[in-house]
Amino acid sequence: MAINFNYTIRRYKRSDELQVYLIESESFGDHNPLDYLRFYEKFEDGFFVFEFKGIICGFIVGYPFSETEGHIFSLAVHKSYRNRGVATALLKHLLRHFFLSGITKVSLEVRVGNEGAKRLYEKNGFICLWTKEQYYSDGEDGYYMVADLAKLAISCNLLQDSNN
Ligand SMILES: CC(C)(COP(=O)(O)OP(=O)(O)OC[C@H]1O[C@@H](n2cnc3c(N)ncnc32)[C@H](O)[C@@H]1OP(=O)(O)O)[C@@H](O)C(=O)NCCC(=O)NCCS
Repeated sequence: MAINFNYTIRRYKRSDELQVYLIESESFGDHNPLDYLRFYEKFEDGFFVFEFKGIICGFIVGYPFSETEGHIFSLAVHKSYRNRGVATALLKHLLRHFFLSGITKVSLEVRVGNEGAKRLYEKNGFICLWTKEQYYSDGEDGYYMVADLAKLAISCNLLQDSNN
């Protein structure tokens, strides 16, 4: 489903803290939201929020771990705004940011039980390379997925600005 409203994707700022905290809390039950929020803030260059009429609908956090490789650490959308393309827009924005910074390969992990997120990543050019056994603290396995940004730049037009 395509987004049919005006929105902005911009860098996270401290005044977004409460809204991002609430999305983090409702989206992930396996960790302390405040600890994660503090961790995300360390990657301010790759921490983006999706804003619609002053409401933060979702966020994404990624960071480079070498000159050419980036990693997506977190992506979540408020329950009321799911299935409208918010995560897709955030993902494309971060991939574009990575690409313009010289990054050509992006990786992430996703729970094997999180079929929705896996489909989202596959739809946006990620492929599953292998399974990391008991990757998560509760023992669940994680898929290790990667995307080749040089290829996506051609097929998905990564240079196009994702704000509408
Ligand atoms: C996963 C998540 C980020 C998706 O956000 P979203 O804004 O609803 O995703 P989009 O609307 O951009 O979905 C794009 C595509 O992803 C797939 N998808 C997303 N959620 C899905 C679901 N629950 N079931 C099946 N497919 C799903 C679909 O293929 C969808 O395309 P379509 O609508 O054309 O079928 C959101 O459900 C969420 O925050 N979940 C909790 C946190 C989480 O699991 N984060 C990912 C951690 S790796």
